Amino acid sequence: MSRFQVVSGKGGTGKTTVAAALALALAAEGKRTLLVEVEGRQGIAQLFESEALPYEERRIAVAPGGGEVHALAIDAERALLDYLQMFYKLGSAGRALKKLGAIDFATTIAPGVRDVLLTGKACEAVRRKDKKGRFVYDHVVMDAPPTGRITRFLNVNDEVAGLARIGPIHNQAQAVMRVLKSPETAVHLVTLLEEMPVQETADGIAELRAAELPVGRVIVNMVRPHLLDEEALLTVSGARRKEIAKTLTRAGVTGAAALVRPLVEQAAQHAQRVSLEREQRAVLAGLGLPTAELPLLGDGVDLSALHDLAAELRKQGAGEEVGS
Ligand SMILES: Nc1ncnc2c1ncn2[C@@H]1O[C@H](COP(=O)(O)OP(=O)(O)OP(=O)(O)O)[C@@H](O)[C@H]1O
Ligand SMILES: [Mg+2]
Repeated sequence: MSRFQVVSGKGGTGKTTVAAALALALAAEGKRTLLVEVEGRQGIAQLFESEALPYEERRIAVAPGGGEVHALAIDAERALLDYLQMFYKLGSAGRALKKLGAIDFATTIAPGVRDVLLTGKACEAVRRKDKKGRFVYDHVVMDAPPTGRITRFLNVNDEVAGLARIGPIHNQAQAVMRVLKSPETAVHLVTLLEEMPVQETADGIAELRAAELPVGRVIVNMVRPHLLDEEALLTVSGARRKEIAKTLTRAGVTGAAALVRPLVEQAAQHAQRVSLEREQRAVLAGLGLPTAELPLLGDGVDLSALHDLAAELRKQGAGEEVGS
């Protein structure tokens, strides 16, 4: 089972929600899970209805199975301090450095270096062991940047190659890439059953594969129920629409045509959506990846809804795959 699960997808499709649900699903299996975000938006804190996360791992939820979800908002500047501390044992010198504002550059540095700091911190958590040699976290789930940026974000080796061919940044990038390209990692893409996000998903997968990054699942989010069966869909979408009014008229309903028109219109719209969704499902099936589906929840996603989504993911075996 992948220990590092990265959740990407088109903007607004539910990356943060799915990452959080996945972390809860893993915790429900009794696993200790770390949920990390890297974009400084405090999306996790909002979702778990807690205060803004400091740069510090803290327990944010306990799942019914007894497993815990911890959370961390990684920011590049603090990750750089961690990193300097780890490699150069800077200790108080690091704190002095921060005071001096000498590392303001962490926010203005080359994006590749920024990314390797963020992914590096996540990989450090993936590999971290306690004194007895056991992994501190069974799983790390990342609420990652969107599809358009995910491959560059993870492909830190290439990104820093032009900047550092030797030295600690280079070594760090290499170490990060070893984790990211191993079966320990799986990159999941969240999509909706709509043309644009599905296309972005297909493109994103091609990019990830070209970069030899392990693709996990496609998670189809906000799936709306189908209200009509096949027969009914055919009736409202095809030439048989007129028959409905005729049948009603024959049955003695006066003004049947006018009565039925708006209803049939609505049903026809539904039928059209179902047919478009069917096309998108076919495109997704063509990607040859395991999928999971989450329903559109009518009242948005609060904490209890998040637990429901987690249960749904568990039922569908999400989280169990290894990278492909
Ligand atoms: N299955 C669902 N049913 C209903 N609402 C959902 C579902 N999944 C996500 N949402 C809602 O959709 C909105 C976007 O979700 P979320 O913030 O997780 O997306 P995102 O991909 O992380 O967005 P961004 O690109 O801005 O980071 C939120 O308001 C969230 O509550
Ligand atoms: Mg988000």
